[in-house]
Amino acid sequence: MRMLQRYKDGDRVNHWIVALLFLCAGLSGLAFFHPAFFFLSALFGGGPWTRILHPFFGVLMFLGFVGLFLRFRSRNVWKARDSEWVRKAPQLLRGHEEGMPAVGKNNAGQKGVFWGMTVCLLLLLVTGVMFWQPWFADSFPILARRIAVVVHALSATILILIAIVHIYAAIWVKGSVPAMMRGTVSEAWARKHHLLWYREVTGDKQ
Ligand code: HEM
Repeated sequence: MRMLQRYKDGDRVNHWIVALLFLCAGLSGLAFFHPAFFFLSALFGGGPWTRILHPFFGVLMFLGFVGLFLRFRSRNVWKARDSEWVRKAPQLLRGHEEGMPAVGKNNAGQKGVFWGMTVCLLLLLVTGVMFWQPWFADSFPILARRIAVVVHALSATILILIAIVHIYAAIWVKGSVPAMMRGTVSEAWARKHHLLWYREVTGDKQ
């Protein structure tokens, strides 16, 4: 079976570092989101340590994501065929992949996840800095800080929902997780899920 390279070594290492930091930032943040989640602070050495570490996890996750952004931005540029893919997505969800438009390196769902994550991470960074005591918070008026707290919690909620969709889709499309582990996919997988990309890398016209 011939294999095609889909993710380079650096892409995969970068991805799994961001996934790990997302877990750390997410679990430590949830500990403050609602008292029901406070028990999660035990994972990070108790309340004070969780409070100290959370912003650093967040900044590191953002910096890691900048790496992913630079690596993957070109394959996530929105094309006219992506809008058609979105219009037909309900039939894909019902299990009929046959009628879907041919896809390049990424499909519109992957592109949506990518841009959604980008917007949420930018909002999380900017708003997080605005109420990061005792370093930066005093430079912002109280009303701005209050708005920042709400926007921070909202963007974190949306990012967690996007991550759930992302992980579900990654498991649902068999062969995606091994691609992110080993870097390669079979030619048959590429033909089935990303026909235009398959043609581009193999030169096969069919
Ligand atoms: C256990 C958790 C995760 C799993 C199993 C997972 C799995 C995958 C897989 C299989 C791919 C390649 C196929 C695809 O695009 O869907 C991928 C790509 C990607 N993942 Fe994850 N992921 C996880 C967590 C995350 C997190 C937390 C983030 C960011 C906050 C993230 C960001 C990305 C990005 C930006 C791509 C590249 C998409 C592209 O090709 O443009 N992933 N992931």
